[in-house]
Amino acid sequence: MSAQTLIMTHSALLNLRIQGCRICFQRKFSIIASGQKNVPPRYLGQPSPFTHPHLLKTGEVTPGLSQVEFALRRHKLLSLIHQEGETLGASDHAVILLSHPTHYMTNDIPFPFHQNTNFLYLCGFQEPDSILLLHSVAGERLPSHRAVLFVPRRNQNRELWDGPRSGVDGAVALTGVDEAYTTEEFGQYVQRFKGAGCTWWYDNEPPVHPRLNSEYMQPLLDAKSQRNKTVQSVKRHIQYLRLFKSDTEIELMKTAAKITSEAFISTILSSKAPVDESYIYAKFDFECRARGADLLAYPPVVAGGNRSNTLHYVKNNQMIKDGEMVLLDGGCEYSGYVSDVTRVWPVNGRFTGPQSELYQAVLDVQKSCLSLCTPGTVGNYCPHHVGHYLGMDVHDTPDISRSISLQPGMVVTIEPGIYIPEDDTTAPPRFRGMGIRIEDDVLITEEAPVILSADCPKELFELEQIWAHH
Ligand code: GLY
Ligand code: MN
Ligand code: MN
Repeated sequence: MSAQTLIMTHSALLNLRIQGCRICFQRKFSIIASGQKNVPPRYLGQPSPFTHPHLLKTGEVTPGLSQVEFALRRHKLLSLIHQEGETLGASDHAVILLSHPTHYMTNDIPFPFHQNTNFLYLCGFQEPDSILLLHSVAGERLPSHRAVLFVPRRNQNRELWDGPRSGVDGAVALTGVDEAYTTEEFGQYVQRFKGAGCTWWYDNEPPVHPRLNSEYMQPLLDAKSQRNKTVQSVKRHIQYLRLFKSDTEIELMKTAAKITSEAFISTILSSKAPVDESYIYAKFDFECRARGADLLAYPPVVAGGNRSNTLHYVKNNQMIKDGEMVLLDGGCEYSGYVSDVTRVWPVNGRFTGPQSELYQAVLDVQKSCLSLCTPGTVGNYCPHHVGHYLGMDVHDTPDISRSISLQPGMVVTIEPGIYIPEDDTTAPPRFRGMGIRIEDDVLITEEAPVILSADCPKELFELEQIWAHH
């Protein structure tokens, strides 16, 4: 499908098809037309252009990402599905994505909510217990479709505790989908697709939201299997789209990497031996959030001395002594996009001879891997050995093979390391107890690779100089 067709289909999509009474219609229309200025701040369950004008511009669903970009993503997905549908002999399609539920760490105490990234990628809606349905519209030229959100109903009692929910009209106004209903209305709405002929695109292994899966999806899937119809996986198509970053996604990833780089510099500056790993953890977290990050992208590894040989060390509660190095593997999430960076430095500001020897060896390897990050370079350089895709998730698009050729628009990490436990008697004694990994985030382009985390110093002399600035 040409860009022109996509844009034209867009405009059609953005012509609101609002259901319901005239008053609702006028209110929703004026919300969108006016940049939603008239809506009271309690109206939505997530930041919006009118409640958080310091974060979002008019027309944006999440910071930096417009309703148009989300609509384009849905169109591209439906376009891929229609193409595959042709080979299956199917022309009517329904795509289902479930949001995440709220997870609890103990009775009544929720973990911070994090949305299912495939769901988020397609609509930007940040509330739990929601469903996105994309369905083709029969009789219209492909790839016409309708996007429908099913969202938690407004509930004064719950909102007293948890804060506002967007409700159905807030969800339409914010995201620009065609229609919204409450989650309970999903079962009723999809009755119309139960007949033969409609292909379902859905993943339930494992279910993203176990309750919604068993309450709403399982009955549908059971009915399908009775008719001997297969249900197709949709996530591989979404991952394929997510593999190639748009210009706006690249901007967000650059911001995430820049925040992380600056946070590293401040953290290195304030790590004077002896220092507690938990202090470095807290400092890095603070420096990321203070620069606008939403949260850390993963529990960071803050590993002093020999603990850096434990790849997933996240206890971060030991003292780092004078003469030891610390390995910090940390990154932040900014408007849904993440960074993932690792640096190692001595907490007394001076690399010893063996430390700098080993560090320089890893740095040389890392730089030569970086220089191989050009399109099509797969024979010499295989990312699964030293990196992974990066995007909305840290280990992004996990079902895409890491052996395919690199192509412009992909973002990968490059993170070679060397790990020498202190009790490894086969290693040269001077290197024992050292674990060194150097990790950067890299955008593949037609030309030279763009190192998104380039502001984060990694030369021996730079690390020593920063430290010396306390
Ligand atoms: N921080 C996780 C990783 O580097 O893969
Ligand atoms: Mn990584
Ligand atoms: Mn990492």
